[in-house]
Amino acid sequence: MWRIIFTDYKASFSPSILALEPPMTATSLTLIQPDDWHLHLRDGAVLSRTVADTAKQFGRAIIMPNLTPPVTNTAMATEYKARIDAQATGLMPLMTLYLTDHTSADDIRTAHASGIVKAVKLYPAGATTNSAAGVTAMANAYDAIATMEELGMPLLVHGEITHAEVDIFDREKGFIDSQLIPLLERFPKLNLVFEHITTKEAAEFVQSSSYKVGATLTPQHLMYNRNHLLVGGVKPHLYCLPVLKRNTHQQALRDAVVSGNPRFFLGTDSAPHAQGAKESACGCAGCYSAPAAIELYAQVFEELGILHKLEAFASLNGPAFYGLPANDNTITLVKQDWQVPASLNYAGDTIIPLAAGETLHWKLQD
Ligand code: NCD
Ligand code: ZN
Repeated sequence: MWRIIFTDYKASFSPSILALEPPMTATSLTLIQPDDWHLHLRDGAVLSRTVADTAKQFGRAIIMPNLTPPVTNTAMATEYKARIDAQATGLMPLMTLYLTDHTSADDIRTAHASGIVKAVKLYPAGATTNSAAGVTAMANAYDAIATMEELGMPLLVHGEITHAEVDIFDREKGFIDSQLIPLLERFPKLNLVFEHITTKEAAEFVQSSSYKVGATLTPQHLMYNRNHLLVGGVKPHLYCLPVLKRNTHQQALRDAVVSGNPRFFLGTDSAPHAQGAKESACGCAGCYSAPAAIELYAQVFEELGILHKLEAFASLNGPAFYGLPANDNTITLVKQDWQVPASLNYAGDTIIPLAAGETLHWKLQD
């Protein structure tokens, strides 16, 4: 039910062109409330800020389980959900389990029966932040994955191989060939989300696959490429995993959202880290986009001339993939320049958000 209000007709076109195709500028955009299908909220005191940032725009969020210790069973997920719910923001957390070499079929059945655990997250061990307890060899997870296939429970994958000899920019492509295709051949009915895709190969794989594969796209991978990360000096606040790739890959991701293929949907991968942990000799991976997430996507969609496709991407495709109804309320964005704060203070830590200090052209209405 997207609704765009057009008010500002540009006058610089010849009348004949104007008559055929009046160029217009939208000034207000009302969407079915979106959801975030990939989110890191962390735990403890910071929850009061991270949950609120997401709740002001999103109805539901898939909550990543890479806490320390990781959320590996239903009891832990239930307790974590209670800490999120205690923030009383209205955000509905959809919990996930962290898959390990030891996750059993019974663990999956218990999680599924709980009704609160909606998916299971596969981190190849060592692939990213807090992934040391992840899966060391795919075969170790076959029993759990077979049960997920049987129950229709989605497997969310961090799609990177971790072999030391594989170049960091080639790790996603390597994962498709050596892990993902064999996994889907073995479990052809599995619902699988290829999380935060970063490459042309991943976009093409999702678009052409005959399996039940979806993919989330982050604001940073749509907005930036590795030149933004590295030219003129290292920008630690643009460092996330999978790492930003070359501009042709960024373009392929932008083309994927332009295609309107319903397998692509919103997942911010918003992941807060303290400023000192990122601006460090060994800076950690993750971009905190939650404070401006829907506005960042709106900016990209406007640049691409596809604002009318934002609602499907942000609010419809994700629920459809997960077999859930769309939200029944709406949010409204207005065309208004505003600046993303240069820094935020969260539970005593300074966090530099994605696009800090940049001017955005769409603003969420309170
Ligand atoms: C995430 C985090 O900080 O938890 N970091 C990141 O770079 N994306 C983990 C993840 O999703 O890979
Ligand atoms: Zn993530």
